Amino acid sequence: MLGKALVNKLTTNQSRFTIIPTDLPDLDITQSKAPEKIINLKPTLVIHLAAYTNVDRAELNSNGVWKVNSLGTRNVALACQKLKVPILYISTDYIFDGEKNTPYVEWDLPNPISIYGTTKLEGELWVKNLLSEYWILRTSGLYGKGGKNFVSAIIENAQKNHEIKVVADQICCTTYTNDLALAILQLITHNLQLTTNFGVYHITNSEWTTWYEFAQAIVKATSLRCKVLPINSQELNRPAKRPNNSRLCNFTWERTFRKPLRNWKEALSEYLKVHR
Ligand SMILES: NC(=O)c1ccc[n+]([C@@H]2O[C@H](COP(=O)([O-])OP(=O)(O)OC[C@H]3O[C@@H](n4cnc5c(N)ncnc54)[C@H](OP(=O)(O)O)[C@@H]3O)[C@@H](O)[C@H]2O)c1
Repeated sequence: MLGKALVNKLTTNQSRFTIIPTDLPDLDITQSKAPEKIINLKPTLVIHLAAYTNVDRAELNSNGVWKVNSLGTRNVALACQKLKVPILYISTDYIFDGEKNTPYVEWDLPNPISIYGTTKLEGELWVKNLLSEYWILRTSGLYGKGGKNFVSAIIENAQKNHEIKVVADQICCTTYTNDLALAILQLITHNLQLTTNFGVYHITNSEWTTWYEFAQAIVKATSLRCKVLPINSQELNRPAKRPNNSRLCNFTWERTFRKPLRNWKEALSEYLKVHR
């Protein structure tokens, strides 16, 4: 999902980048030949988005998710090490446990509570241990064209049902893939123009919400006749635990660019206008 938005942004923005998109089955990052395959493509920068992203299924397939998110990221980082090129690795709010009462800053200590979060954190550690030039970009609540996401799931459910139940006790930030793709473009372009800006970034649409409030906004904006009812996480009882507070403070981004990403209401509104 993010890959599509990014390829679109990097190819249509008159950017000076030549893009080499890769995907399964041609390039499986878990394979031992993956570093060699990446090296043969001769990239000058690697943007690594590939991941096992089904958070609930991950709890039942720890080996499979570890292979992609941890070992796979090691393979990509090893290729970057050999090529002496930077990596931009996408990580997640799920590396935090959600126990903090305020938004998480880039230097807060991670403590994942799910297998997905644990393996994404391992990916971060491989990047940090193997490379000196990297961006680790943590985002959350991604939605956009070309992928299953919370917004599409709510619309689908609200079309079929008179009422839907959504968790109201998890505070989060959501992120439109087009906005994140633009931020990535800004980050890598800025790095070419000025001094380097490598490091860890939290990048999300600004202002926080709950999944319940977000679902209400989706139903309202799409004029669907469906009631949204609040429930708590225990009632939903999903296999993977989610952090109760996964708000990401975009501290490093705002220090670098002096401007937050637009707020989630504007982003959602544009997404629904363009893609519905
Ligand atoms: N979605 C969110 O809310 C969210 C939040 C925070 C961070 N992120 C991170 O953002 C990145 C992009 O996520 P997304 O939502 O765009 O997910 P996505 O649509 O599931 O994209 C992940 C891609 O990785 C591919 N992939 C899986 N295993 C692979 C392998 N062994 N080798 C090569 N490619 C492989 C998947 O292919 P298949 O579809 O064929 O399996 C898929 O195309 C991920 O790193 C994710 O962890 C996502």
